[in-house]
Amino acid sequence: MSSRDMSYHAVMSRKNEIMKASLGIDYDDYIQSPIAFDYERMMSETGYSHADVERIQSETKVGNTPLFELHNLTQTVRRISPPGKGARILLKDEAANASGSFKARRASISAYEAQQKGYQGMIAATSGNYGAAVASQAAQRGLKAIIIQEVFDSRGVGQPEIIEKGRKCEAYGAEVLKLSVGPELFYLLLRTLEETGYFNASLYTPFGVRGVESLGLEIAQQVRTACGKDPDAVVITHAGGGNLTGTARGLLVAGAISTRIVACSVDLSGLHMASDHDFNRKSFTTGHTGFGVPFATWPDRVDVPRNAARSLRYMDEYQLVTQGEVFYVTELLSKIEGLERGPAGNTSLTAAITLARQMDQDQVVVVQETEYTGAGKHQNSQLSFARENGIEVRLGDPEESVPGKSIVIPKHLDQVRGKIQDMERLRTSYLKNAANQYPVDRWDETDFNFLAEDLKVSQDWVRQRLTDL
Ligand SMILES: Cc1ncc(COP(=O)(O)O)c(C=O)c1O
Repeated sequence: MSSRDMSYHAVMSRKNEIMKASLGIDYDDYIQSPIAFDYERMMSETGYSHADVERIQSETKVGNTPLFELHNLTQTVRRISPPGKGARILLKDEAANASGSFKARRASISAYEAQQKGYQGMIAATSGNYGAAVASQAAQRGLKAIIIQEVFDSRGVGQPEIIEKGRKCEAYGAEVLKLSVGPELFYLLLRTLEETGYFNASLYTPFGVRGVESLGLEIAQQVRTACGKDPDAVVITHAGGGNLTGTARGLLVAGAISTRIVACSVDLSGLHMASDHDFNRKSFTTGHTGFGVPFATWPDRVDVPRNAARSLRYMDEYQLVTQGEVFYVTELLSKIEGLERGPAGNTSLTAAITLARQMDQDQVVVVQETEYTGAGKHQNSQLSFARENGIEVRLGDPEESVPGKSIVIPKHLDQVRGKIQDMERLRTSYLKNAANQYPVDRWDETDFNFLAEDLKVSQDWVRQRLTDL
């Protein structure tokens, strides 16, 4: 090894250099100001067409997953809906991808790119399914994989789902660096990238989001075949935003321009993601507000200079559900549809039930993903772990639940209600974050244009909102 200074400050100061070498993208080419950048050019210059993506993904067991109509669930929802209401509910079975989730789409193009460019391996910092996806894609392309995972609190106790995901990474041959909760993750990522010379398979690169676009394309095509129309709404579990961004972009490419894009997260408000105390007081490790809200309101808080996952660009609506509601719906899916699936996909399924109740019977709502389940992902493991950590688990009205203190599982389906978020508030919060990043008096036409596009509003809306503030 070289005699380079590996102290925290020295490694951090070489951030840009390390990024360029490990990714081959020079973000300076796209950056226009401290807030604006040429997003579409960055996406198109990945160099992969949709046909390329389809071919690459089919080489490594990704994509072309089944779309199921959930007839029993639809009938059940109609029984608790007003007359004429109860949209058809369809489910895209993303658990069928290699490694068991849509994240395989996200890792597939990075693995191909790494292989083409002659990298020996890939690295990703993630506690989630993405690690397993990187490991599985790397294994198929003869690359090594290193996954950096936050696993433990300071007692050395790990959340069952995170332990399961670490196990899965190792099953595919990855080396897993297991950390306790803390700020050193990014430092370790940079250091490992520099030491190994491996490819940076960050979740937030254009390659990742490009890979997810195929999911939106497939949904549009399959729903047209099954229902003879475009989906009226697609419900998407939202955390870091790549799932929503990629899927929505794919739908747009397919011409499904009137489909409502509905984000959904588990409500964990009040719990702090970086807190050692709160780390093991949640039963969901992704698809929750601890990621969903901060990433929506400021996407560029990631391990690459600009984030390709920009959820507010595409989001029409944002629904929150409680942990108890998702547990109830998870069991319902098994019991009436014969599908046992994991937590993140069932989060959007939960929101879809509330939506379907308000939509007409001839409308179509698509739950955009499932994920695999078992071991620590299973609701029984999660509920036992919650009880061991002092969380009260009971039946009742989920509205009474308090994240980190109680999980209230509904007694009846009509207690599954979800909660709509105020989009104006989210957009305003994004604007405040942008203003903190770059003083408003320096914003020019390019910035206003970028912000309007990033928030799915007009420039007038942005200017008016600033005046109101
Ligand atoms: C199975 C699954 N669904 C949805 C999500 C949320 O995706 P995103 O972080 O891109 O919003 C994740 C992220 O961890 C996931 O693993």
